[in-house]
Amino acid sequence: MAEIVLKGLGHSYLSDPKSDADYALKPVDLVWADGKTYALLGPSGCGKTTMLNIISGLLTPSDGQLFFDGKDMTHAGTAKRNIAQVFQFPVIYTTKTVRQNLAFPLECRNWDRSKIKDRVAHIADLLDLDDILNEPARSLSADQKQLISLGRGLVRDDVSAVLLDEPLTVIDPQMKFGLRRRLREINRATGITMILVTHDQSEAMSFADEVVVMKDGRVQQAGPPEQLFARPQNEFVGYFIGSPPLNLFSAEQRNADLHCPSLDISVEVPADARDRSTKFGVRPEHIKMSKDLADNSPHATVQAVENLGIERVFTLRTSVDETLKVKSRHHKTVSPGDKVGLFVDDKDLLIFSDGTLVCH
Ligand SMILES: Nc1ncnc2c1ncn2[C@@H]1O[C@H](COP(=O)(O)OP(=O)(O)O)[C@@H](O)[C@H]1O
Ligand SMILES: [Mg+2]
Repeated sequence: MAEIVLKGLGHSYLSDPKSDADYALKPVDLVWADGKTYALLGPSGCGKTTMLNIISGLLTPSDGQLFFDGKDMTHAGTAKRNIAQVFQFPVIYTTKTVRQNLAFPLECRNWDRSKIKDRVAHIADLLDLDDILNEPARSLSADQKQLISLGRGLVRDDVSAVLLDEPLTVIDPQMKFGLRRRLREINRATGITMILVTHDQSEAMSFADEVVVMKDGRVQQAGPPEQLFARPQNEFVGYFIGSPPLNLFSAEQRNADLHCPSLDISVEVPADARDRSTKFGVRPEHIKMSKDLADNSPHATVQAVENLGIERVFTLRTSVDETLKVKSRHHKTVSPGDKVGLFVDDKDLLIFSDGTLVCH
């Protein structure tokens, strides 16, 4: 097991990169602590696989260095890194049984038979594959095949980290939930660092101790899910994390005040926001609605209601014609056409200056 450190690590697939735009992964400093679960989250093409392949050694970075426990591994071969990688599609031998699939990596390392038997039994127990050890791998479901891929990585007893590159893509939604939980259990039982690549924010948020958000080859923010939700460092993170995404409202600077016409709130203009393009942001979960309308309170008209079971998502239009979403467990009787009052606590109000979060 190891702490993985990226120091100015970046990659361009071009032989002579000239500008930032030529980098699939723009140089970044990052620390992946030993034993934690991470998610690498971002839209397709943002550089997630590039970063993962550099860590596993499938790709040599054009810039910077990679360290495992302080040791420079930038140019080390894949075999030296002890990384288990699980891909989008299961990599297994369909003609072999589950047991043979799990045993194969150890046979290649010339382990003796009794040691292989014990180790395979241990991994099968961990992954709950005991009952199907003698089944041919081709007869199994997609999630079981992915567990075997994972098992083939974990079966070695020297694994530093497990890297999973969108491994849940081919799996049914219900099975996804189960497999994600199983991954977390394995992390807890073994203490092996896990990095899960995904473009699905809810998958990232429910799996990881820390989420790293990427866009256009650049790391936007890294932190615990709660932090990304409460304090998104920029409008992109606010938009990408959360469902529905962060609401953004226009802001007007009036001398020393920054005013939000939709919510009728004013705050002192933060120093970093003076004479810049500013917006207010509020999470749909942080806007309270009320059917009691005081004359001068900010209000909005309900346009649509979506029932999610426990919660509802209300689409509203404010008095200055901005659209917002509110997510709430209450207000079962609020319907399209109703007029509601809006309330936002000062602590839940975010301010973005030229797209970046500023303190207020
Ligand atoms: N082997 C390659 N050669 C050239 N460009 C590549 C190669 N692999 C990926 N890219 C480009 O690098 C960028 C990042 O790709 P990738 O790391 O696969 O993103 P993600 O995994 O987030 O979808 C994309 O623009 C992609 O087209
Ligand atoms: Mg990818």
